[in-house]
Amino acid sequence: MRKIIIKVPATSANLGVGFDCLGLALNLYNKYQFEEASDFILEGFEEEYSKDNLVLSSYKRLFSEIDKDPIKVKITQLENNIPCCRGLGSSASCIVAGVIGANFMLGNIYNIDELIDFASMIEGHPDNVLPCFLGGLTSGLSDMGEIIYTKYDVSNKLFFKLLIPNFSLATSVARGALPSEVCFKEAMDNLAKAVSLPLLLSQGDFKALKVATRGGIHEKYRYPLIDGAEKLVYEITDEDNIVLISGAGPTLLVISQNDNDIELNNKDWKVVKVKIDKRGVEIK
Ligand code: HSE
Repeated sequence: MRKIIIKVPATSANLGVGFDCLGLALNLYNKYQFEEASDFILEGFEEEYSKDNLVLSSYKRLFSEIDKDPIKVKITQLENNIPCCRGLGSSASCIVAGVIGANFMLGNIYNIDELIDFASMIEGHPDNVLPCFLGGLTSGLSDMGEIIYTKYDVSNKLFFKLLIPNFSLATSVARGALPSEVCFKEAMDNLAKAVSLPLLLSQGDFKALKVATRGGIHEKYRYPLIDGAEKLVYEITDEDNIVLISGAGPTLLVISQNDNDIELNNKDWKVVKVKIDKRGVEIK
């Protein structure tokens, strides 16, 4: 019986001005085992994910892409460290695991670029999928479904912390809050910052990063959806800390120039120190 274990990292997308294109891989992991079985079986998932399971539906979609009946499989969630619906790429991690599991059962007929394209198509954008596959900092854009991407190193002068609330926010709600058009001047400002951001993160130029991460074109529409976030941003932002919405939120990503602890007065939120995952998905 064929068997594979897939370890996928959490990711933080957008990074302020990189809406739907920039993302970072973080050292929080989910781990899934796929093994051939006599039926489709899910084990180890939280109750609410036993139906409409995104790992399994992504697995099946790769088979339907080539008009094949999916090979029956037992999928076991061995580790679950990526908080769900918190803006930390839990959906992308399910999709990436599902398509890699399916590709394995099919005899690895697709290469990594094809899997990236396919997973990004399921997710709708590549900003979480890319760092989940590749690790590090990634940028990506879609050319008719083909993802053109770049991977960057992140300076070890930078430190990353997550402020994770005890409530979730559906990505569909966060996307629904966005306008269909934006002001040309704001778009230009965002663009100017976005083109500089990857290199600044690689160099660890904190002073320039403070400017280049500020004013993400989507953020002002989303802060009102995240109870307590604006107050936290106000309290924590200083000469050492930049605070951004992680992905669709509600988690906030803090980029710091030191590893100091952050004390929060708000009991609805917790601080988690993270490091950049440099490898991306791991397969055993
Ligand atoms: N770029 C996406 C968003 C990430 O912010 O909506 C979450 O899927």
